[in-house]
Amino acid sequence: MVKIEENKSLKPLNTFGIDVKAAHFITISSLDQLEELFQTDVYRNEKHLILGGGSNVLFTNDFDGLIIKTALKGIEIINKTEETITIKVGAGESWHDVVMHCVQNNWGGIENLSLIPGTMGAAPIQNIGAYGVEIKNVIEEVAAIELANGAQKIFNNAECCFGYRESVFKSELREKYFISSVTLTLSTKRHQLNVSYGAINDTLKQMNITTPTIQSVSKAVVHIRESKLPDPRVHGNAGSFFKNPTITKNHFELLQKINPTIPSYATVNQEVKVPAGWLIEQCGWKGKKINNVGVHLQQALVLVNYGNGNGAEILALSEKICASVKEKFDITLTPEVNIIT
Ligand code: FAD
Ligand code: EPU
Repeated sequence: MVKIEENKSLKPLNTFGIDVKAAHFITISSLDQLEELFQTDVYRNEKHLILGGGSNVLFTNDFDGLIIKTALKGIEIINKTEETITIKVGAGESWHDVVMHCVQNNWGGIENLSLIPGTMGAAPIQNIGAYGVEIKNVIEEVAAIELANGAQKIFNNAECCFGYRESVFKSELREKYFISSVTLTLSTKRHQLNVSYGAINDTLKQMNITTPTIQSVSKAVVHIRESKLPDPRVHGNAGSFFKNPTITKNHFELLQKINPTIPSYATVNQEVKVPAGWLIEQCGWKGKKINNVGVHLQQALVLVNYGNGNGAEILALSEKICASVKEKFDITLTPEVNIIT
């Protein structure tokens, strides 16, 4: 019989450290357990939410339903060619542990994604990305179970409809599937290192590295991230709270006239991506603290719970930030974090 816990504290299970409870809670370590869960009254009668590492969610209330925590483990080699290796990874594996496993084995393609918190199963949901790399570049397929009927489905890369912090699992198929494993293809030779983004090159230079490797790029990324982003074990947070918005070229040129230093990244379709952290900083929010919550001092895109903050306080802060960015720049920010009501 599967063990469903009651009145479970979610405080240690979300990186914002929000102190809420779930009416019911279960940890799923095998597909047989999931099958069993589907037969229970709690599953049939209550709303449910799948939880990985809780590093991209904001709970705004106690969860009056069933939380299904993924703990499916395993990294299995399923194919090797002259220059690649294909691995199938259980949804409950820690993403950073997967990266470290690959880096240690000299398997290339995900070293720039070192130190992103969370689980393997959640990684495709928002197509995790950092330092010029997105996980979509290495995903072969995503195996999932349809929550409505228990049917297994394999999504190939194209069917996942990946975009910037987006996939079909975050849009049309949101909360419809339980992702059970993800299959990745990585390089074993002639690695395509990506060192052009942000501070990676400078950091490698500081480390006296002239010929970068998968291992040194991973170390540089870890170093940069540790210096910029707050450690959730110290100050609760969920990484970037908002996505970086995309605006039209005309809108950008207009803003550039008034703010000549506005940073930007070019995108396709003649649109321009603007760093939300810059917009928020220009509105005077960086380092601001309101009671228990605030905007991180080193990175204005990161909202922080300084200890006893609740989800409603974080949400209210995010709404105030949105309103001032809209007023000053006529840009609407969209949350990256999944807000759970
Ligand atoms: P959770 O927060 O548990 O869940 C996120 C969403 O996915 C929820 O909607 C949940 O219901 C759903 N979900 C989770 N697992 C499954 C599953 N198996 N099947 C179906 N649905 C599921 N993200 C980046 O892209 N780049 C970064 O650089 C980055 N840096 C971060 C830094 C910090 C300090 C923090 C705290 C977060 C950062 N993030 C970043 C965000 C976060 O780490 C990622 O979004 C991560 O993939 C979330 O994984 P998780 O297991 O914690 O997901
Ligand atoms: N900036 C400011 N002030 C700030 C923060 C940023 O002016 O307080 C400006 C600077 O011009 C800086 C630019 O914004 O050059 C970009 O900042 P940064 O390199 O820190 O990246 P980001 O756009 O804020 C994105 C991702 C991160 C990812 C990093 C590195 C999004 C929403 N966020 O942040 O992902 O780690 O790039 O690639 O795309 C996450 O998704 O949770 C996350 C942390």
